[in-house]
Amino acid sequence: MLRLLSRVSQLRPFSTLSLPSPEKNPSILYTGIFINNEWCTSQSGKTFPTVNPATGEVIANVQEGDAADIDIAVDAANTAFSFGSQWRKMDASYRGVLLNKLADLMEENHTYLASLETLDNGKPYSVAYGFDIPASIATLRYYAGWADKNHGKVIPMDGKFFAYTRHEPVGVCGQIIPWNFPILMMAWKLGPALATGNVIILKPAEQTPLTALFMAQLTKEAGFPNGVVNVVPGYGKTGAALVAHNDVHKIAFTGSTEVGKLIKAEAAKNGLKRTTLELGGKSPNIIFKDTDMNHAVETSHFGLFFNMGQCCCAGSRTFVEDDIYDEFVEKSAVRAKSRTVGNPFDASIEHGPQIDEEQMNKILSMIKSGKEQGAKLVQGGCRVGDKGYFVAPTVFADVKDDMTIAKEEIFGPVQQILKFSDLDEVIHRANKTDYGLAAAVFTKDIDKANYVVQGLRAGTVWVNTYNALASQTPFGGFKMSGHGREGGEYGLEAYTEVKTVIVKVNEKNS
Ligand code: NAI
Ligand code: MG
Repeated sequence: MLRLLSRVSQLRPFSTLSLPSPEKNPSILYTGIFINNEWCTSQSGKTFPTVNPATGEVIANVQEGDAADIDIAVDAANTAFSFGSQWRKMDASYRGVLLNKLADLMEENHTYLASLETLDNGKPYSVAYGFDIPASIATLRYYAGWADKNHGKVIPMDGKFFAYTRHEPVGVCGQIIPWNFPILMMAWKLGPALATGNVIILKPAEQTPLTALFMAQLTKEAGFPNGVVNVVPGYGKTGAALVAHNDVHKIAFTGSTEVGKLIKAEAAKNGLKRTTLELGGKSPNIIFKDTDMNHAVETSHFGLFFNMGQCCCAGSRTFVEDDIYDEFVEKSAVRAKSRTVGNPFDASIEHGPQIDEEQMNKILSMIKSGKEQGAKLVQGGCRVGDKGYFVAPTVFADVKDDMTIAKEEIFGPVQQILKFSDLDEVIHRANKTDYGLAAAVFTKDIDKANYVVQGLRAGTVWVNTYNALASQTPFGGFKMSGHGREGGEYGLEAYTEVKTVIVKVNEKNS
């Protein structure tokens, strides 16, 4: 069943056949700060509210960590990482056992975790259950397998020496994650870091702390030693305190390009700590006239509207060849109109609210700028209802490269359709952006597809598909979409230092 459900994100509307009923009021069990395998309150006594984006109502108040709490967490993490500690002495294979145990516990709590994610984030329960949770479990199991397989080399060094490399953990890793895929981003960060023997202080996004806190409890139940996984909820300044701390050795960040730049600069000033950054995008999706029209329309719709458009890799510039442009626009508008918007706990719903009022207003102002700058609004363009943060699936045609909606990340359900007429022209226009996270090309001509793949400057290029992601494949950006890769074997590099060991070899035993 898991395998089946993990594929439902590729199907529209989502299959409801094997979906268990959600817990519509999942109990909120953990709202504290998790340090050293214990729950505690913030040093300042402050809390912050987390809100259900479908209603605008407060779900719970969560302890707000700040620099003082980060100091305590960093001490705990450094103790867990100290030479000779239980974690450092543990067999690598046993780290894999613990990761698999964590994945088992997630499976046991699958319905609860999906329900909690929907409550806190607003994404359809069918998606949380069918995609986010199984993809997170798959990530942990994938990296569990790597725990005792990521080894160094023996090198034939000149002279009478024996040289080999060890892949050692970086140390204390600050992990700052966003709200669009809260539990999946946590799994992407925990999996490779723990498999390679690091210790973690994770800061969830202020909008969506609840599943990260429940996961913290599961890491304890799985048997990770004290201080190996710490979770400190809070706002951006809590993340900034992690970046500023000299005893944190690495920051892994997913979020806005604006904050990514700040983090890189601050990390350089504070211990020159390592950074991996997974930032924004304005991904081109190129549709040639020889494609299967219905498949291209449907997949481009999915590539943009999935997760209410709140995807760093969203196909937010759809370039369509002139001969099929009008038909593509018309069919895309019809598809967007049919997208079911509403209560994310309802199994027939494809589309829930945006994460918060600020994001909703940002999207509405982008739609306004699209209209003002002369793009043709062919579908949607407004808020839905007056409760919660719903935005109607929106389609713009006649979009020009220099319009704000074609240049800036909208991070919402707004599809821009641009026209092109020449192969090299569209490659050039697709690359005319500061970003380089993802791209796609739709054509039946393999030579054309290969040519475009080589020409595009992006970390992932999909051919005749979109949003196909798995734990085995690397993901990350060119240019201002960030640096470093998460996922796959490449994802291990971000969490390991290479130590070269050179041993003198005597000619004879004396
Ligand atoms: P953000 O980049 O401010 O937040 C992401 C995470 O960084 C959160 O945990 C936040 O608390 C933390 N953070 C904020 N300021 C920080 C600082 N100075 N130091 C350390 N950590 C800090 O993103 P935000 O404000 O939620 O969304 C703004 C825009 O960013 C969105 O409209 C979207 O365009 C983009 N975004 C991109 C994401 C991606 O997956 N690449 C995810 C979320 C947002
Ligand atoms: Mg922000």
